[in-house]
Amino acid sequence: MFARITGVGSYLPGQAVSNDDLVRRGIETSDEWIVSRTGIKARHLAEPGQASSDLALEASRRALAMAGIDAGEIDLIVLATSTPDFIFPSTACLLQAKLGNRGAVAFDVQAVCSGFVYALTIAEKFIRSGSHKKALVVGAEVFSRILDWQDRGTCVLFGDGAGAVVLEASGEPGILATALHADGSHHGILSVPGNVSGGQVTGDPFLRMDGQAVFKFAVRVLAEVAHECCEAAKVAPDEIDWLVPHQANIRIIEATAKKMKLGMDKVIVTVDRHGNTSAASVPLALDAAVRDGRVKAGQKIMLEGVGGGFTWGAVLLEF
Ligand code: UT7
Repeated sequence: MFARITGVGSYLPGQAVSNDDLVRRGIETSDEWIVSRTGIKARHLAEPGQASSDLALEASRRALAMAGIDAGEIDLIVLATSTPDFIFPSTACLLQAKLGNRGAVAFDVQAVCSGFVYALTIAEKFIRSGSHKKALVVGAEVFSRILDWQDRGTCVLFGDGAGAVVLEASGEPGILATALHADGSHHGILSVPGNVSGGQVTGDPFLRMDGQAVFKFAVRVLAEVAHECCEAAKVAPDEIDWLVPHQANIRIIEATAKKMKLGMDKVIVTVDRHGNTSAASVPLALDAAVRDGRVKAGQKIMLEGVGGGFTWGAVLLEF
């Protein structure tokens, strides 16, 4: 029994906000600085009334349409987010209600930018156990809500969006291997160290990051976990057709590809269009590459995530 992706979908809210638009909004930065340091040219920002579940709904509808199944057939919803609509209920349950699905298992996963890779791995295990047949796996974020717009070192990097896949039980190979890791001793280099308690925000409700520490950590672990996943599947790195990495920074992506001895012509890059959308970034990039025809049936695809926690992981699959 395999778990196979049968549909992908994504959604970016509103209009693209360019780097020059940020300068016009009063942020002391430049298109040259942002593009040369990160590769980001634009990001999308959710409207005030739009929550993660709204973005997730649009992406999910597109993935369900591609899979050709009705929302009512889904028996598992795993949604990765660090920007949930509420403290509870989970954004997965809110998405379930918006989709009109009743009875499926639904829960959120919190692994920050590795969230989608974590969620996909969890869903795969449900399906391979035989307990569930049709899963909706989603990454959805409104990171614009947790950015300190006075901190130019972080606010230019992130954006809002959602991506989703339908994962179904199949006799044909789908997900070939997965590898997940975390090391909580690095929690301080990327965090939103705040809380709501007694009706007040306690601590700091904004994203804080030691960019250079994150950069070094990400490059090391992304290459390591990709090799671990290849070994588990007995697939050589040069057999990978497409690497779909977390879209945070083009320099991290290039360094990872180099360590894996993969040419950039085998790497899907969409960070220029939407910045770092955390748990949404991997399915956003996968959806773009499926819809523009680069990713084709039967190809080997490596998905990779890394983020706060610290967490990291990879999924190798046959599409
Ligand atoms: O999902 C994981 C999420 N995180 C990441 O992927 C982040 C990984 N890290 C990075 O991508 C990079 O470390 C950054 C892009 C965040 C920063 O690049 P850097 O080359 O490490 O720059 P820096 O933080 O050392 O800052 C260099 C200079 C500083 O000025 P001085 O002190 O040299 O005069 C900053 O004040 O750049 C300045 N700076 C900016 N200038 C214009 C910082 N942010 C900006 C900005 N515009 N937005």
